Amino acid sequence: MKLKGKVAVVTGAGQGIGRGIAEAFADQGADVVINDLTVDSRTDEVLKNIQSKGRRAVVIGGNVSLREDVERLFDQAWDALGPVDILVNNAGIETIVPFIELTDKQWEDVTNTNLKSEWMCSQAFCKRLIAEGRKGAIVNIGSIQAARVLPGRTHYAPSKLAIEAMTRNISAEVGSYGIRVNCIHPGLIETPMIRWVLESPDILPHVVAQISLGRPGLPCEIGSVAAFLASDEAAYVTGQALYVDGGWVGK
Ligand SMILES: NC(=O)c1ccc[n+]([C@@H]2O[C@H](COP(=O)([O-])OP(=O)(O)OC[C@H]3O[C@@H](n4cnc5c(N)ncnc54)[C@H](O)[C@@H]3O)[C@@H](O)[C@H]2O)c1
Repeated sequence: MKLKGKVAVVTGAGQGIGRGIAEAFADQGADVVINDLTVDSRTDEVLKNIQSKGRRAVVIGGNVSLREDVERLFDQAWDALGPVDILVNNAGIETIVPFIELTDKQWEDVTNTNLKSEWMCSQAFCKRLIAEGRKGAIVNIGSIQAARVLPGRTHYAPSKLAIEAMTRNISAEVGSYGIRVNCIHPGLIETPMIRWVLESPDILPHVVAQISLGRPGLPCEIGSVAAFLASDEAAYVTGQALYVDGGWVGK
């Protein structure tokens, strides 16, 4: 088990990729803090699933684009499960708006949720690790849209490309403390966020035709790579961005 004895915080873990990562981490022996906007039946299901694997888990609700919620998340995580070793910055939203119609609020909602949250959570996490003299790992979730243009994503795509630059910059500043920071850019992954693509007979075949493996990915297929990057098997990997996209960006 790659993550035996480790404690991880996964943001946006109530469904989709975050859930896949939280459950993959539990399979690899980690105890997991499940964060999402609300504590509800979805987070309860993830909680029960992780506990059924014999791991400790707790749900901590909170909006990771708000500083006060971020500080409370890490305070409560440390109180509930002890020192945290791994942070996965996964929470994100996507809206589709033509560039010419994009409003300030739409820009702020997307960039605050996708980018500002990853900076604030990383900082809150690293401050605690450095104060305690403990090593750790961060996995940031970006998107294939860091490298591929899809219409109506003038706000979403930069928020995801910027995560790659942020990953490199943070990794350079915290490497000497033994904290590693890496990024995964997922391709088309079967989650509620992209259900509209999966259910569209016009759009889905067009997208899948661009993917070398000829299918969408599963949340557990992001989870297994995140587990590797968070584990000591990746002890000499930091500041990297990895496309986990079934061969879309390179095709
Ligand atoms: N599904 C894909 O094909 C795909 C592709 C590339 C990147 N991504 C990225 O992967 C991440 C997860 O996407 P997903 O497809 O699982 O989405 P999803 O919408 O299915 O799940 C996202 C979860 O994050 C939570 N969340 C949203 N804003 C939050 C906030 N401010 N604070 C706390 N939780 C919040 C939501 O409540 C939801 O449970 C996102 O960052 C997304 O941009 C997804």
